[in-house]
Amino acid sequence: MAPNRVILVTGANSGIGYDTSYALAAASANNHVIMGCRSLTKGTKALEELQARKPAGTLSLLELDVSTDESIASAVEKITADHGVLDVLVNNAGIIFPRAESRRAALAETMNVNAFGPLLLAEALLPLLKKSEDPRIINVSSGLGSISERLVPDQFGSDITAENYRMSKAAMNMATACLYMNNRAWGVKVWSFCPGYVVTNLSGEEDRENRVKQGAESSETSAVGILEIVEGKRDAEVGTFIQRRGGRYDW
Ligand SMILES: NC(=O)c1ccc[n+]([C@@H]2O[C@H](COP(=O)([O-])OP(=O)(O)OC[C@H]3O[C@@H](n4cnc5c(N)ncnc54)[C@H](OP(=O)(O)O)[C@@H]3O)[C@@H](O)[C@H]2O)c1
Repeated sequence: MAPNRVILVTGANSGIGYDTSYALAAASANNHVIMGCRSLTKGTKALEELQARKPAGTLSLLELDVSTDESIASAVEKITADHGVLDVLVNNAGIIFPRAESRRAALAETMNVNAFGPLLLAEALLPLLKKSEDPRIINVSSGLGSISERLVPDQFGSDITAENYRMSKAAMNMATACLYMNNRAWGVKVWSFCPGYVVTNLSGEEDRENRVKQGAESSETSAVGILEIVEGKRDAEVGTFIQRRGGRYDW
């Protein structure tokens, strides 16, 4: 029997995307997870590892770099040809340390990957999402993108400057609001989701240990939060900026 829930996870070879791919594939034999990865070498390794864990559902690999229109167009073409529908988009791919060296180029690179890419990918996938009976878009944002939180002094994370990252996630949050308000009439549900402070490769291999020391949890906990959204447990909070284990951020 063909799987009846087709899910695309971007940035699926590492961290939250990796654990989410497994959690969603393991949750149901009816789930098919497309692992969007910009590196096919890393993606193939990740796919093989997750398949070896024998999830109930199925997984496949798709080359996808969210920072270029060409990659988005060919990925959408491939999903259209292979599935003809998309039920869930998890816009997870993201960066905090851009490679560009000038201040302006670094700001632009972060915006491109974290905000422009997710919006453009979602827009390109709207025709496939429209074919779903239960379409969902989950934008993996960050509490660091909350303008309200930025204005609170002396709390965990308030010493993190990272203007590039904070601005890009605030822009992603506006993309969430626009995607939701522009398209909710035909039934698509959209959220911004903060995955919590978790141990991943986001700030480099060397910072993993720091994250553990600071009490960061496993990114499997973020995956559980995303699974809950996919399974309808956060539907009452559609169009908002939600956290793991319940709770919400002000924009
Ligand atoms: N970890 C946290 O505590 C935390 C907290 C709040 C929000 N987040 C958000 O969670 C999301 C996942 O991050 P993570 O923590 O799991 O970090 P991660 O382990 O570094 O994973 C990020 C993923 O995004 C991919 N990626 C980067 N640029 C891309 C592009 N242009 N096109 C496609 N894929 C791209 C990476 O691919 P490569 O492996 O090829 O680089 C990697 O697969 C990000 O949006 C991040 O902002 C994380």
